[in-house]
Formats: sequence, structure tokens, C-alpha cells
Amino acid sequence: MSKKDIDWSNIGFGYIVTDKRYVSEYKDGKWDDGILTEDDKIVLSECAGVLQYSQSIFEGLKAYTTEDGHVVTFRPNLNASRMVDSALRMEMPPFPEERFLDSIEKVVRANLDYVPPYGSGATLYIRPYMFGKNAVIGVKPADEYQYRVFVTPVGPYFKGGAKPIVVKISDFDRAAPRDTGNIKAGLNYAMSLHAIVTAHKEGFAENVYLDAATRTYIEETGGANIIFVDADGNLVVPKSHSDSILPSITRRSIVEVAKTYLGLKVDERYVTLDEIGAFKEMGLCGTAAVISPVGKVNDHGREICFESGMEEMGPVTKKLYDTLTGIQMGHIEAPKGWIHVIE
Ligand code: PLP
Ligand code: COI
Repeated sequence: MSKKDIDWSNIGFGYIVTDKRYVSEYKDGKWDDGILTEDDKIVLSECAGVLQYSQSIFEGLKAYTTEDGHVVTFRPNLNASRMVDSALRMEMPPFPEERFLDSIEKVVRANLDYVPPYGSGATLYIRPYMFGKNAVIGVKPADEYQYRVFVTPVGPYFKGGAKPIVVKISDFDRAAPRDTGNIKAGLNYAMSLHAIVTAHKEGFAENVYLDAATRTYIEETGGANIIFVDADGNLVVPKSHSDSILPSITRRSIVEVAKTYLGLKVDERYVTLDEIGAFKEMGLCGTAAVISPVGKVNDHGREICFESGMEEMGPVTKKLYDTLTGIQMGHIEAPKGWIHVIE
């Protein structure tokens, strides 16, 4: 095995084409056996369901090189089951969970030379996805689907890595109550593009979305859940009245890490925009974001500044970050079943 000649420590969160990807086709009511292929192109009907009515879902997880040289993934079973939930909500045939896990292993193994080395700060991002493939012109689900997995080495999602970012309270909404906010459908990201371009133009790294019904409660950002640390050092995790927050695997893991490794009290509750000025720390959490500290929230010109400031992560966020990434990189013992060894 010889690693690719990539400047691992300086890559951003972008797409680098790798050697092999996995493809399985759904036709006549069943999934075929699936193959690994070098072909990174997809040929589609001009009328494919995904092109006309955006019938697509995806997942995101990472492969890590551990301190002792293994290549592992983190709780991939939770991605497998969330993808089933997404498929059912989008009237798509779920890809069986064991096959999801097998496809991830196959693609990572076929691209081991692209798994960034331990300590480089980069990881291998894994993108499973599925879309409606055959021609659909009346509004209805497709009959044929393609499931694919590709991998790409990535660096930090936000420029500067662990440097605190500034986010804004968005004027747009992310998900209507009881809509598709709690699944990973491509359409949730399509409708966020105007909002994120607007936020970037204004100099903000991300949008914080409020609950769409009342615009009172904090929900999440375009690509990550949110965590806060209150004045007593407890972890506060926003809940949604309308089930429109994506159930982040990172956030669910942080909650367990906070309780069992760090002995923190965790409060999963409704959080209003009005109260966040009282919190000491804020962070965005997700596979891509890991835990990205937020130094400031801009609410229509009113700045909410956290005590942790704009220079570094607050102390509780740092402990959570170090413990979570320590588990992922193999120098802190993981809870049973969290680390899936591939190589
Ligand atoms: N929220 C949204 C909208 C996301 O796109 C993501 C990314 O997957 C997350 C939260 C974080 O979820 P996870 O920790 O499972 O990656
Ligand atoms: C992830 O964290 O895996 C995501 O899917 C977020 C995406 C916006 C890059």
C-alpha cells in the first residue's frame, strides 16, 4: 500500500476523485448484488425522478486512521438506520442495513491509499446516496433507483479548523414542522443554498435556523446540530417542537460522552433565541463539522458574544472535542460498538 501524494494537512472540505466507488441498482422490486467500479460518471434519463422532483437522500460518515494504524469508521450502523428512515420518508426502497455496512467497507478498502494518515488533521469522508433513476413526469416516486457510495479525503469543514466562527440567525427557514427536516434528503440542502450564499456574502460561516412555526426556538444550522454550555458548565442541547432537527450521530455521541466520560449534566430541551446570550459556549456538531466552536451569533445586527471568545474553543467544548476525537482516533477507549474496524 502506498499513500497518495496529497498534502493531507492542507486539504479543505472538497471533492477529490478516488479510485473506486460502489453502485447497486434497484429494478423490478429488488436491489441487485452491487459492484465496485472505477466509473465515476452516471448516465441518466433526461426525465429521471431525481432531476425532476429531487428524489434523493444521502448520508455522511468518515473513516479515520487510528493511532495504532487501523482504519475505522464511527458508528456506521446509525448512518445505515438513518438512511432507511430517509428512504421510507421519501418513498424510496430502503437499502438493507447490512448491505449498507458492507458497501462502506468495500469502498474504504478499495481506496485505502486515500485514507489520510493519523495526525494529519484530514479524514476520509464517505458519501452513500440514493436517487430516483427512471423517467417520472407525473408527480410520483420512481420505480428504479441507484444506491452509490464514494469516498473523498477531506480537511476541516470550516476554514481555520478549530477557530471559533461567527454565525447568523437566518431570515429563511430550514424545514417546515413535521416536514423533512429530520431526514437527510437532498432537497433540505437545495433550499438552503440561497441562505448559505447570502450568509457567506455577509461574512458569516453558517446559518442558525429557528423553528419555522414560531421563529422562537433554536433548531440547528444548515449542516450541523448545535450544542451550548450553560453558566453551570452543563451541556444544553436544543430539542424541536416539530421534529425538524436532523438526529445527528455526532450530537447523540457527544451527549453520551458528556455524561459518561466527563460527568456533565446534559439538558436536552427547547432553547429560545432570547436565552442564548446567557450561555458560556456554543458549538456546531456533525460529521463534517466535528465540533466547531461558535464565538458569536449575529441576530440582525445584535451580536451575541460567548465568553469563550473568538480565539479558541471554550473549555467544555474543548473537553468534548478532545474526548470525541480521541475515541474516533483510537487513543481513548470507545464505548462498545462505536468503532468499526475496517483494516
Ligand atoms: N444537521 C444537518 C442538517 C446535517 O446535514 C448534518 C450532517 O450530517 C448534521 C446535522 C450532523 O449529523 P451527523 O452528526 O450525523 O453527521
Ligand atoms: C455531514 O456532516 O456529513 C454532512 O452531511 C453535512 C454536509 C452539509 C456536508
